[in-house]
Amino acid sequence: MTSRYNEVYQEWQAAPMAFWAHAAVAIDWSKPWDKVFDADDGPYGRWYAGAECNTCHNAVDRHVQNGRADQVALIYDSAVTGTQRKITYAELLSDINALAAVLTDKGVQKGDRVIIYMAMVPEAVVAMLACARIGAVHSVVFGGFAAHELATRIDDAKPVMIIATSCGLEPGRVVAYKPMLDKAIEQAVHKVKTCLVLVRSQQPHALVEGRDFDYAEAVAAATGREIACAAVKATDPLYILYTSGTTGQPKGVVRDNGGHLVALAWSMGAVYDTKAGDVFWAASDIGWAVGHSYIAYAPLFIGATSILYEGKPVGTPDAGTFWRVISEHKVKVLFTAPTAFRAIKKEDPKGEFIGKYDLSSLKYLFLAGERADTDTIKWAEEKLGVPVIDHWWQTESGWPMAANPAGLGMLPVKYGSPTVPMPGYDVQVLDDAGHPVKRGELGNIVVKLPLPPACLPTLWNADQRFRDAYVTEFPGYYKTADAGIIDEDGYIYIMSRTDDIINVAGHRLSTGAMEEVLSSHPDVAECAVIGIADHLKGQVPCGFIVLKSGVTRAESEIEQDCVALIRDKIGPVAAFKMALTAKRLPKTRSGKILRGTMQKIADREPWNMPATIDDPAILDEITAVLNARGIGVKND
Ligand code: COA
Ligand code: AMP
Repeated sequence: MTSRYNEVYQEWQAAPMAFWAHAAVAIDWSKPWDKVFDADDGPYGRWYAGAECNTCHNAVDRHVQNGRADQVALIYDSAVTGTQRKITYAELLSDINALAAVLTDKGVQKGDRVIIYMAMVPEAVVAMLACARIGAVHSVVFGGFAAHELATRIDDAKPVMIIATSCGLEPGRVVAYKPMLDKAIEQAVHKVKTCLVLVRSQQPHALVEGRDFDYAEAVAAATGREIACAAVKATDPLYILYTSGTTGQPKGVVRDNGGHLVALAWSMGAVYDTKAGDVFWAASDIGWAVGHSYIAYAPLFIGATSILYEGKPVGTPDAGTFWRVISEHKVKVLFTAPTAFRAIKKEDPKGEFIGKYDLSSLKYLFLAGERADTDTIKWAEEKLGVPVIDHWWQTESGWPMAANPAGLGMLPVKYGSPTVPMPGYDVQVLDDAGHPVKRGELGNIVVKLPLPPACLPTLWNADQRFRDAYVTEFPGYYKTADAGIIDEDGYIYIMSRTDDIINVAGHRLSTGAMEEVLSSHPDVAECAVIGIADHLKGQVPCGFIVLKSGVTRAESEIEQDCVALIRDKIGPVAAFKMALTAKRLPKTRSGKILRGTMQKIADREPWNMPATIDDPAILDEITAVLNARGIGVKND
């Protein structure tokens, strides 16, 4: 099939407003828009200004009304508990209605924030959709974050309620969420008055009298009640999703209702070649953007079936678990992070588990979240015999900025490139002074404003932070903070971040936030955290600490403290296992720590002596510290 990509991209370029007005026909609106795009509203404009809609109606009610009541909407497959549950659109609607009734009874109103701190259980998706139904703004916090991170989000979002599970289940260990919830509520300045706790049998927990309510009991009592979908403005926030910024204060990415509905529904057909009735599986977590967009929302927007998988790619119980899920539920499209495939490839290099399952339903594998290495792509292509599509996006965009659009007909694959920009994204490469670079030259990847529907219109209660972070450095453009190349054929290559974000097993983390935590240790004078190459997780953090003079405790003890401190303050997801004591840190003459050079040394990459270095001998000291620990051989 010849690709329609060029034709469709040009159609968008020629008439962007008409393009997005046309795409919006797929959505039910209770009030039409006054303007497809209002450039005067918000830091750079807002989509579908004046329109009203409801996200839950579009995800669930309309499918029940239009003949999909008995189709499965959500398949919960828990490899960690060995249970499965299929939930039809009608059942999903009933569950959402009951929870919406509970929320309403407990005083949650349109515009109020509700934090969701839950494991990968169907009730988490029900909670997101129940909030959407009544116009409340949800903020899902990933279970791998510690109490302190949850407290930071409580203070920023100021929720009226938190919906939580008593625990999450990691292979071989129950992660008690409830004590972390209690600790976070205690730490936060903003006081949360109501919690709804889904008590799981693996970790029953005492509820706090007057504050905590049992989810199952409350919902059972409300079953059968109906709560009408609230009409919200297209520009009203649907959710806030916190993501790593350059400091310990995460950025509250805002997603609106209208633009999100339109762009995500469009992407399902054009990018993922998925239609109503197909089975779509995003093997991610609802705590991340991928989980929001492609587990909880987009498949439901178009009447497809979405898989909610609780487990890992390996170890639950083996490297064949993904193939089991695909064959049992007839998955058409699998979307995950390259790290998941690296984990499978490591356990089962010959792909022996693959042969044990019928994978004839699978048509595509999509990878995103981090750079997809060519070895992994080729391995997956060879073993699965389907197109493997690397595509590029960010929490901020909420849907792919670049992809090989399967639904429009695929373009030739170039390994190492997530292919071409999607309609809505005018992607360019600029030098540091803001001038376009020549084709094929490395530079800052930016997107010409306005961003398309579904991209963040701003940060939660922080318009100025939005401007400072994204649109000030390159006026007229959104700064992606990725560096890369566009080649002669218009293919994009994402090479690295230009800020201090690192990508650990597809999880986005801030080394700046880790440095803030390390600096709080009483024996640490200064520190630097860098991301070093890891053959499984892509990158892992490595922290160098310089001790205060006069400290007499053993270095190894302080290093262990630092590892424990990051786990306690940020969470296990940071995967921070390496704290190394150094005598001094390499700096420029103006005092800037040379993190980039340290990273190159650790990764055994070629590096040049920085012209501005204060004392070149310190780099030898750093090399010696790394060598002494055997770090930096990409752990082959
Ligand atoms: N709740 C509590 N703890 C969690 C958690 C959760 N939801 N998710 C992860 N953790 C913990 C893990 O148990 C682990 O703890 P440990 O240090 O005690 O072992 C730590 O956080 C790091 O987790 P992770 O980065 O997931 O590493 P892993 O070694 O457990 O698994 C992979 C490695 C590659 C199998 C795993 O990262 C994976 O499946 N990735 C898929 C990619 C993905 O989901 N990306 C999201 C964006 S698309
Ligand atoms: P997140 O906000 O967690 O989705 O992380 C977004 C960042 O992950 C991007 O800015 C990139 O640095 C990186 N990323 C996502 N997808 C890709 C990809 N396909 N190739 C390279 N890097 C990617």
